[in-house]
Amino acid sequence: MNLPYSEPYRIKMIEEIHQSTKEQRINWIKNAHFNLFNLKSSQVFIDLLTDSGTGAMSDRQWSALMSGDESYAGSRSFDELHQTVQNLTGFPFLLPTHQGRAAENILFSVLVKDGDIVPGNSHFDTTKGHIEMRKAHALDCTIDKAFNVDDLYPFKGNIDLNKLEEVYKNNPKEKIPFCLITITCNSSGGQPVSLENIKAVKKLSDQYGIPIYFDSARFAENAYFIKTREAGQENKSIKEIAKEVFSYGDGMTMSSKKDGLVNIGGFIALNNEKVFQEASNFTIIFEGFITYGGMAGRDMAALAVGLNEATEFEYLESRISQVEYLGKRLIEFGIPIQKPIGGHAIFVDALKFLPHLKREEFPAQTLGIELYNEAGIRGVEIGTLLADRDPDTRENRYPKLELLRLAIPRRTYTNNHMDYIAVALKNVFDRRNEIKTGYKIIWEPEILRHFTVKLGKV
Ligand code: F0G
Repeated sequence: MNLPYSEPYRIKMIEEIHQSTKEQRINWIKNAHFNLFNLKSSQVFIDLLTDSGTGAMSDRQWSALMSGDESYAGSRSFDELHQTVQNLTGFPFLLPTHQGRAAENILFSVLVKDGDIVPGNSHFDTTKGHIEMRKAHALDCTIDKAFNVDDLYPFKGNIDLNKLEEVYKNNPKEKIPFCLITITCNSSGGQPVSLENIKAVKKLSDQYGIPIYFDSARFAENAYFIKTREAGQENKSIKEIAKEVFSYGDGMTMSSKKDGLVNIGGFIALNNEKVFQEASNFTIIFEGFITYGGMAGRDMAALAVGLNEATEFEYLESRISQVEYLGKRLIEFGIPIQKPIGGHAIFVDALKFLPHLKREEFPAQTLGIELYNEAGIRGVEIGTLLADRDPDTRENRYPKLELLRLAIPRRTYTNNHMDYIAVALKNVFDRRNEIKTGYKIIWEPEILRHFTVKLGKV
């Protein structure tokens, strides 16, 4: 018999979490205006709101923290991080930032102007926000298969080359500062982009003289999928694959809170010295001096270790297999989820789960509240609340998919937790026909409403 996968670590420290009663939860969520962001962490038993900054560090990372160099300029911890990033990505220039969106802010301050167009696979919301804030347009060129949850295509984060070429053909080169490839593609379900697709995007972009940048938050998970799903890649190491991927780009932004295995941090890594110099000025204004950019020396030291750990096959195998384990249990129960199972989260298809609910009653949010009430599990809506209103008409924008995301923090929960989540969702699934109505908006802000919206029962 083949031995199953198992975690390549054992637990040295634990953090207590506590169950609550259904009665308590019903009361808490009501007081939170039915917005899961408003719950206190003590009111949550298993927190799947995000995999960002919520993972566990290793003993080697904790020891690196103790030896961080806090010098304002020329910190040794910066040098360690710089060397690590250069080894992993090949990019010679590094600017640390306090998190991923800060890296976007700085890079886009240099590259994105009013009226520009930034094509790519589905941009993450903060990325889109930083593009649109500059009165530029974020264009989604993800393949159509990504929006069919039952299509088993292994690389549903891929860019549709025809859609991309249309953008290149129909717009002047000066209006397209770069093409952005998000690995893995969070917005389409943590789905990977193949090496073949990245190479083809590079070839096409070269023909039109357009640079390529990566939004690399989950680049190691993407490399794992390339190794395990793409023909001809199985014998390469994760580090070799990651380096090859980055060799097709001009630079990257990074949220270190994901595949950096740390609780806070980000960076920009670049090939182009001129872009680096301009970005350095923005870093100094927005983040801090260029050898710390908003990070403590100790956090850079822990990140350098984390990046090396996150790009080990053994770690990635247990990480991705745990997400898959949960996904398979849900599929066994007949629960509709995005397939194939992605890297960092399970995406539950709320339109299939609660087909009788009206879209204006927010089915994915309704499902999120029901799961919380059932078992104290907190997911996040990736649907109509998140998609917000059209800025011109102020009408709701209805995205193709209405999903409840259950993001799995790295090295944090055990498979018993996964079983608990699966059974909790099954219980909600079994009583889905009793969920007759959803929610309506009582109050909402101008933009980014899902974080602070107040809801009431219909
Ligand atoms: N890019 C991607 C693909 C992301 O998923 C995120 C964050 C960011 C950029 C921004 O990075 O949070 O460090 O500023 N995603 C988190 C999530 C918040 O829950 O998916 P950040």
